[in-house]
Amino acid sequence: MVPQISYILAIESSCDDTACAILKDAQVLSNVVAGQEIHIQYGGVVPELASRAHQSHIVPVVDQALKKAGITKKDLTAIAFTRGPGLMGSLLVGASFAKSLALALDIPLIDVHHMHGHILAHFINEGQEVPQFPFLGVTISGGHTQIIKVTDYHKMEVIGTTQDDAIGEAFDKSGKMLGLGYPAGPQIDQLSKKGDPKKFPFPIPKAPNLNYSFSGFKTAVLYFIQREVKKNPDFVKENLHDICASIQHTLIKILFQKIEKAVKETGINTVAMGGGVSANSGIRSRLTSYNQKGWNTFVPPFAYTTDNAAMIGISGYFKYLDGYTAGMEITASPRISM
Ligand code: KG4
Ligand code: ZN
Repeated sequence: MVPQISYILAIESSCDDTACAILKDAQVLSNVVAGQEIHIQYGGVVPELASRAHQSHIVPVVDQALKKAGITKKDLTAIAFTRGPGLMGSLLVGASFAKSLALALDIPLIDVHHMHGHILAHFINEGQEVPQFPFLGVTISGGHTQIIKVTDYHKMEVIGTTQDDAIGEAFDKSGKMLGLGYPAGPQIDQLSKKGDPKKFPFPIPKAPNLNYSFSGFKTAVLYFIQREVKKNPDFVKENLHDICASIQHTLIKILFQKIEKAVKETGINTVAMGGGVSANSGIRSRLTSYNQKGWNTFVPPFAYTTDNAAMIGISGYFKYLDGYTAGMEITASPRISM
C-alpha cells in the first residue's frame, strides 16, 4: 500500500556531479550537489577521475542531504537513482550505492532515466504553474540537445536530437578556443552582455528534420579565430565581447529554428526547457518572448536545471505513485534510450 506521505532519497551521478536530494512527495526538502573541480585543468570531464571523485563524494553528500532535510534513513520510503544515460563508471557508483541502501533499509528501489529527470524537473512543487500535457520538452546541456514530445509523466518521444556535439559543447569548445576556462558557457553568457551579437556572422549548420548539428559551427569558429589571429595577434583580446555575443547569437538562432519548426509540425505550443544551457540569459529571454505569440513557456529554477538529484527524485516519485519498483538485478546503463 502506498503511504500517505512518501520520502524519496534520490541519487544522480551520471557525469561529473555527485548529487543527492530528499523529496517529501513532490516537494524538495534538500538538494545537495558536489561538483568536481578536478576536471577544470583538463578542459573537460575525464571519466576515470569522475568515477573516483563520485566514490569519495557520495557518502558525505547523502549524509548532508539527510541532515538538511531533517529526517533519518528510517523515514525513507524509497530510493531513486539515475540508471543512464551517462558515463559507465560514474553511473555505477550511484547505482551500487542506491541498491545497497534500498537493500539495507528494505525499501523499494526506483531507476530513473536522466533525460526524464530533466523534463520532469518542471513538476517539482514550488507552488508554480506547471506545463500541461502534451508539451515539447527541450533539453540542452553539455551532453544533450533534444526536442522531446511529452505525452504524460512516463511517455516521452525524442523527435529531434543532435547528430554530433551538444549545444553546451558548442559553447564550451568555442570558449576554449578563446582561452576561456571550463565550462565556458556561463562566461560566454556574461561576456556577451557587452558585445555586438551581429558583429561576426557565423554559418548556421544544416541538419535534417528536427535534428541539430554543432560540429560544423565549432570548426567555423576555429577557422575564423585562426584567420583573424594571423592578421592581428591581439584579435581575441580586442574583440572578446563581440566574438562571444556573436557565438551566442548564432547558437540561439540554431536552437530556436528547430524549436519553431517542432511547434509548427506538432501543433504543440507549450515548450518546457531544461538542462544546464537553459541558464543562458539570451536563451531565457528569447524563450519567454514567445509567450507574446501565444506559446506557454517554462524554465525551472536554476538549481533544478543543471544536473541535480531533485529531478531524479520527482521522476522516481511519479513512478512510485504508479506502483513501479525496480528489481535488485538492475544495472547502470550508459546508453539507455528514452
Ligand atoms: O546540465 P549540465 O549542468 O550538465 C550536463 O552537461 O549534463 O550542463 C552543463 C552545460 C555546460 O556545457 C555549460 O557550459 C552550460 O551547461 N551552461 C551554460 C550556461 N550555464 C551553464 N551555457 C551557456 N550559458 C550559460 N549561462
Ligand atoms: Zn543532464
